[in-house]
Amino acid sequence: MLDESRTNSTIIAAYRQRTATSEALASRARQVLPSGIVHDSRQLNPYPVYVNRAEGAHKWDVDGNEYVDYYGGHGALLLGHNDPRVVEAVHRQLNLGTHYAACHELELRWAELVQQLVPCAERVRFTSSGTEANLMALRLARAYTGKSVLVRFKGHFHGWQDHVAFGCDDHFDGSPTPGVLPGIAENVLIAPPNDLMATLALLASRDDIAAVILEPTGASFGWSPMSRDFLAALREATAERGIVLIFDEVVTGFRVSPGGAQAHYGITPDLTSLAKILAGGLPGGAVVGRKDILDLLDFEQAQQSGREKIQHQGTFNANPVSAAAGIACLEIIADGEACAIATAQAQHLQSILNRVFADEGVPWAAFGEHSAVYFFTNPSGVDIDPMGFDASSLAPEVLRTGGKHPGAGKFRLALMLNGVDISGRPGGSTSCKHSDEDLEHTAQAVRKAVVMLKEEGELHYA
Ligand SMILES: Cc1ncc(COP(=O)(O)O)c(C=O)c1O
Repeated sequence: MLDESRTNSTIIAAYRQRTATSEALASRARQVLPSGIVHDSRQLNPYPVYVNRAEGAHKWDVDGNEYVDYYGGHGALLLGHNDPRVVEAVHRQLNLGTHYAACHELELRWAELVQQLVPCAERVRFTSSGTEANLMALRLARAYTGKSVLVRFKGHFHGWQDHVAFGCDDHFDGSPTPGVLPGIAENVLIAPPNDLMATLALLASRDDIAAVILEPTGASFGWSPMSRDFLAALREATAERGIVLIFDEVVTGFRVSPGGAQAHYGITPDLTSLAKILAGGLPGGAVVGRKDILDLLDFEQAQQSGREKIQHQGTFNANPVSAAAGIACLEIIADGEACAIATAQAQHLQSILNRVFADEGVPWAAFGEHSAVYFFTNPSGVDIDPMGFDASSLAPEVLRTGGKHPGAGKFRLALMLNGVDISGRPGGSTSCKHSDEDLEHTAQAVRKAVVMLKEEGELHYA
């Protein structure tokens, strides 16, 4: 793969030339880190760049190249990089200690803020990540209902733990990925997203379902959008049957609105998992929800109800530094302005990018709800008009193929050559720090990248 990429692509050659220090680091990294990376989504051919500085909506690599950043800390940075108020709170806390192994007032303030903002959050339990929050949400639901089966939706991502490690990018038949026990997979059913009839029929077909979990705006922050009507019907059906409804708001929490997707849609789940923005750009997560369910984590309540308490430890739960960052962040976003700006900028970016695609005669489109921006790179050549693109008119399998276009990897590299960093879907999200100038720069970068792809023969539509 790496040697192949040394061949005749001018995009790859230019990328190598511009990022020589990153290439040297990547080659060192492959001697110690599997694939040279620490998160699967950082896999990039011929190698990813190494970043050593960030500010607002921008970041710089080790060769001094500047990028408008749409990776946004995997969605965690609604306030952009290094918001001064968050940085100040972190510095203050660093001077006071990073770990007390004791209760501290920050965890209380942090939980109170979550409780005020998120409708379902009668109680809050902090974890260290979104993966852990979902793991605890599932355990709570199973313990509360005394049932075993989890219903989840094809393509929805809930972290990398065993109960949800299949059915997102592959293993759609529900078979376990390597290392996951068949017994775990047998207790997880994968439902078709947005197919209300099939989902309701599944819920009605058995009485051993403990929980339904989903990303409330659809898989991968609306990469495959999900309708409010579907959510409402699901809420009704799960309530009728005593099934615990879990919204995975690890991305949508505090981004769709200060109260997450549940506040935006006015649909309250039983449990919610949070992370990313919750901790203001530092590690942290939480499972929040109905008191009677989280009471299973409460020593006294569990005893009073005659139920066995669920154990929960975690060295870094509500770590003071994460708590300080989280409080500063949530206090800023509470009025909704940051969400509104990020959403407006994402929607504006989509429209100027679609103008670029139309001008260039390329049947690609930018789409996404709220502050998401995705590129539909149309590998199968569906007849679309970028200016009138309606994502809901395409099946999720078609819409999600952005990364499968043979030129998608080079598109990303070409964007980097022109000072823009996006994720491999391809896509990303905006922060409230993305300025109109950043968006204009991005549109120019996309135009140049499209021209470069055409010159390499990667866009056969034109
Ligand atoms: C919807 C969703 N759930 C859960 C997770 C896992 O969170 P974490 O990476 O904090 O473990 C992610 C991470 O991207 C996510 O997008």
